[in-house]
Amino acid sequence: MTGRLTSKTALITGAARGIGRAQALRFAQEGADIIAIDVCGPIESVNVPHSTPDDLAETAHLVEQAGGRIVTDIVDVRDADALRVAVDRGVEQFGALDIVCATAGITSRGAAVELADASWRTMVDVNLTGVWNTCTAAVPHLINRGAGSVVLISSIAGLRGLVGVAHYTAAKHGVVGLMRSLAHDLAPHNVRVNCVHPTNVDTPLIQNDSVRSGFRPDLDRPVTRDEFAAAATPMNMLAIPWVHPVDVANASLFLASDEARYITAITLPVDAGSTQR
Ligand SMILES: NC(=O)c1ccc[n+]([C@@H]2O[C@H](COP(=O)([O-])OP(=O)(O)OC[C@H]3O[C@@H](n4cnc5c(N)ncnc54)[C@H](O)[C@@H]3O)[C@@H](O)[C@H]2O)c1
Repeated sequence: MTGRLTSKTALITGAARGIGRAQALRFAQEGADIIAIDVCGPIESVNVPHSTPDDLAETAHLVEQAGGRIVTDIVDVRDADALRVAVDRGVEQFGALDIVCATAGITSRGAAVELADASWRTMVDVNLTGVWNTCTAAVPHLINRGAGSVVLISSIAGLRGLVGVAHYTAAKHGVVGLMRSLAHDLAPHNVRVNCVHPTNVDTPLIQNDSVRSGFRPDLDRPVTRDEFAAAATPMNMLAIPWVHPVDVANASLFLASDEARYITAITLPVDAGSTQR
C-alpha cells in the first residue's frame, strides 16, 4: 500500500538514525513531507557512540531517494526555544503540520541507588522533558490544522520495570503519563496522542559495548552480537532477540494514519510479547 500519508507533514525527532530514520523513510514512502530533527552529537553521561551530521544527511538522502521532501535541523530537544524555531521553519516550508513523532532518546546504565545525579537529570531532561518540548513546539500547529496525530516513543520500560535503568524506566513511564493527559487535552481539537513501546530494537542505542555487557555481566570482555542475541531472546515471547527499526516505524505509521482515526490514549507494544511474558 502507498499513499497512506499523502499531503501530510510529519515532524520526527531523533531522525539521524535508528527508529527515527526508519520513521522518516517509511512515512516518506507513504507520501509525507518530513521535518527531521536531531542533535547529531554527544550527550553528557551517555557512552553510546553518538550520531553525526552525516547520519542526518543520510536520512535526508534516503527520503529523497524514495521521492520524498525533507528539511533537516540540528537541534537538541532540551533546547525548547531552538526546537520551536526549527519546527516553525519546517512548517513554513511545507505549509502545515499533521504528525509528530517524539523519538529522540538516550540510554545509560547504572544500579538505581548508584546512579549519578547527572545521569538521572540528563535522562529525564532528554527522554521526558525533551518529549514535552517537542509537543509544546508542535501542538499549536496541529490545533491550527484542526487535526493531528502525536506518537510518543516510549519503551517496554514504560510499561514495566527493568534492571539497571531506573532513570530510563522512570522517564519512559513519565512519557505515558504525558501521553494520557495530552490525549484528554487535545481530543476536543481532533488531535490524537498515543505511545509505542518497543522491546529491544536493532539500533546503535543497544548495539554497543555498554548495553551488550549489561546483558552478559558474566563475561569479562567485549560481548559479541551473537552472545548478546542469545541473552536478549528470552526477554521476548517470540523467539527473536530484537525487532527492527521498520517494525516500530510501521506501528507509528498506523497510528499516524487515518486508519487509526479513532485511536487515542493507547499504549501500543511492539514487543514480541515481552511485556506479557
Ligand atoms: N533501540 C532500542 O532497543 C529501543 C527500545 C525501546 C525504546 N527505544 C526508544 O526509541 C527511541 C529511538 O531510539 P533508537 O534505538 O533509534 O536510538 P539511536 O541512538 O539509534 O537514535 C536516537 C537518536 O536520537 C538522537 N538524540 C538523542 N538525544 C537527543 C537530543 N537531546 N536532541 C535531539 N536528538 C537526540 C540521537 O542523536 C540519535 O540520532 C528512543 O527514545 C529510545 O529510548 C529504543
